[in-house]
Amino acid sequence: MLKKKVGIIGTGRMGEALIKGILSERVVLAENICAYDKNPERLSSVSKTGIREASNIKQIIEKTDIIIIAVKPQDIDIVIKEIKNRIKSSHLLISIVAGITTSYLIEKLGKEVPLIRVMPNITVMVGEGISCISPAGKVNSEYIKITRKIFGAVGQVIEVPEEMQDAITGLSGSGPAYVYTFIRGIALGGIKAGLNEEIAYKLAIQTTLGAAKMAKELPSSLDELCRAVVSPGGTTAEGLKVLEEGKVESYLIKAVVKATQRSRELKR
Ligand SMILES: NC(=O)c1ccc[n+]([C@@H]2O[C@H](COP(=O)([O-])OP(=O)(O)OC[C@H]3O[C@@H](n4cnc5c(N)ncnc54)[C@H](OP(=O)(O)O)[C@@H]3O)[C@@H](O)[C@H]2O)c1
Repeated sequence: MLKKKVGIIGTGRMGEALIKGILSERVVLAENICAYDKNPERLSSVSKTGIREASNIKQIIEKTDIIIIAVKPQDIDIVIKEIKNRIKSSHLLISIVAGITTSYLIEKLGKEVPLIRVMPNITVMVGEGISCISPAGKVNSEYIKITRKIFGAVGQVIEVPEEMQDAITGLSGSGPAYVYTFIRGIALGGIKAGLNEEIAYKLAIQTTLGAAKMAKELPSSLDELCRAVVSPGGTTAEGLKVLEEGKVESYLIKAVVKATQRSRELKR
C-alpha cells in the first residue's frame, strides 16, 4: 500500500473510476485520498467512499504528494493557473487530460516538476482499462512504480514514448466506442434474424467479451482463432464474406487513423 497522499482534481467519470479502483485494490487508504471537483454534486458523490473532500485546488496541493488532474481539456488552463505557484518539485503531477502534452504543461507551469502523462480509457470504470504512461520532467523509477500501481488498480498499464499518445488516443481511447458500435450491429442483426432484443444484446455482449478473452488468453493468432470458428461452406464463412465485401476491417483501420489525426490536430 502506498503511504503517499493522493489528490484528484476532477471527479467525473475517470476521476471517480480511479478513486473506486484505488480503494478496492487497497493501493491507498481512503483517508489518504483527497479530491476536489468544481461540481459539488460530483464531489459529494465520490466522498461517499470515505475519501477526504477539498474545498479548492489549493488544498489539494497543500495536503497531497501525488496530484492527478482529471478535468476536460478545456478546463486544464484554469487548473494549471491554480497550481502553478503552489506546486513543488517534491510533488508528482499526473495528467490524464487527453491531448495535453507534457511540454505544454511544463510551459504553462513555468518550471519542470515530476510529471507523467497518462492516457487511460473508459473501461477503467469496470477495472478493465488500459493506461499508457509517458513520463517527462524529473521522473524517477519510484514515480513510475507509483503511477503503475495507481492505474494498475483499474486495468493494465504500459509505458510508452509520448509521441505514441495520439495513436493510443485513436485506438484504445476511442476504441470502446467502436466496440459498442460493433456490439450494436451484431445485436441488431440478431433481432433482424428473429431474436428478441434482450437475448440479442445478451448474446452480442457476451460473444464480444468471450472472443476478447480468448484473444487475450490463448497463444493462438487472430487468424487461428478465426479459423476455429469457420468451416468451409458453413455459416460463419457466409457472414465473414459480407464483412469483407463491406470492407469492415479497412474501415476500422481508417477510423483509428482518422481519430489519431484528430488527436494530433487538437493537441496542445
Ligand atoms: N472519458 C474517456 O473515455 C476518457 C479517456 C481517456 C482520457 N480521458 C480524459 O480524462 C479527463 C476526464 O474525463 P471524464 O470523462 O472523467 O470527464 P468528466 O466526466 O467531464 O469529468 C471532469 C470533471 O472535472 C470537473 N472540473 C472541471 N473544471 C474543474 C476545475 N477547475 N476544478 C475541479 N474540477 C473541475 C468537471 O466539472 P463540470 O462538469 O462542472 O465541468 C467534471 O466533474 C479528460 O481530460 C479526458 O480527456 C477521458
